[in-house]
Amino acid sequence: MQQKLADIKLKALESIKSSENLKALDEVRVSFLGKKGELTKVLRGMKDLTKEERPLIGKLANEVREEIEKSLEIAKDMISKKQREAQLIKEVIDVTLPSKKVTLGHRHPMTIVLDDLKDIFIGMGYSIAEGPEIENAYYNFDALNIPEEHPAKDEQDTFYINEEMMLRTSTSPVQVHAMENTKPPIRIIAPGRVFRSDEVDATHSPVFHQIEGLVIDKNITMGDLKGALKIFIKELYGETVQVKFRPHFFPFTEPSAEMDVSCVMCGGKGCRVCKGTGWIEILGCGMVHPRVLEMSGIDPNVYSGFAFGMGLERIAMLRYGIKDMRIFYENDIRFLKQF
Ligand code: DAH
Repeated sequence: MQQKLADIKLKALESIKSSENLKALDEVRVSFLGKKGELTKVLRGMKDLTKEERPLIGKLANEVREEIEKSLEIAKDMISKKQREAQLIKEVIDVTLPSKKVTLGHRHPMTIVLDDLKDIFIGMGYSIAEGPEIENAYYNFDALNIPEEHPAKDEQDTFYINEEMMLRTSTSPVQVHAMENTKPPIRIIAPGRVFRSDEVDATHSPVFHQIEGLVIDKNITMGDLKGALKIFIKELYGETVQVKFRPHFFPFTEPSAEMDVSCVMCGGKGCRVCKGTGWIEILGCGMVHPRVLEMSGIDPNVYSGFAFGMGLERIAMLRYGIKDMRIFYENDIRFLKQF
């Protein structure tokens, strides 16, 4: 019996030694320690031993069992460690391999121009305001002193949602929100999307962008308006650009004007872009109508102010010499890559 146990031990340890993977190791465990394993068989035969032999052989058998278990454990650890090392070597990452090129996007040309424009006005002490794209008749028309018979109220020009609500036709309603919500002094620009029921062509789109400006304080004059807009346009197009103001009419300003800039294409000599005149119309402006101030709760006897509005597409087209605004919206990568 003793010899048998010694043989089993030797055989088991050798089998463990020659096992190359966890599966083989488990097979060794089953063949010696399993239900039908060799050591188990010996333990089962103990009942045939004499009373004196039993504790001796029992003790020995347990020692053999423990030794086999310990060897199995050690071998298992070693094999796992080897496998992990092999895996790490196999999965090593070569950080020097060239990576896949990701093409980086950039700002849309209109965003570039808008950001420049915001920077200029922020530098002059203005802040950026926002207003809703859906307005009712009060904000879009009435509070801007736009009379009942004005063509802008026509259903053919405005996208009505229902009888009362519509998509704003300009950024001018933001003036009203600003006056209602803040006490003077007010100095804001309000860029945003506006909507008009226009056919798409080289200079029209049913969705386009405007930038509104509003300044309200004590003693604001037409001189402040001219000075501010002149500085703005020279910052945007360069020192050599000339400006002139032509009298005009807007219901929400009095007096009103349009500002022209010397043609940024030909420098004022006359070309196709300026239709030979040397000048290009760039924005509408004027002194905020006293009635507009009053409607929004600002006392026209104490305060005065100026406002202006311009189209972002137009400003960007002139800056980059673009003749057809549709190209801004087409997402043609060949166009967009140039900025
Ligand atoms: N709202 C005018 C338009 O859409 C633009 C405009 C003109 C805005 C004069 C103004 C302004 O604030 O004073 O054509």
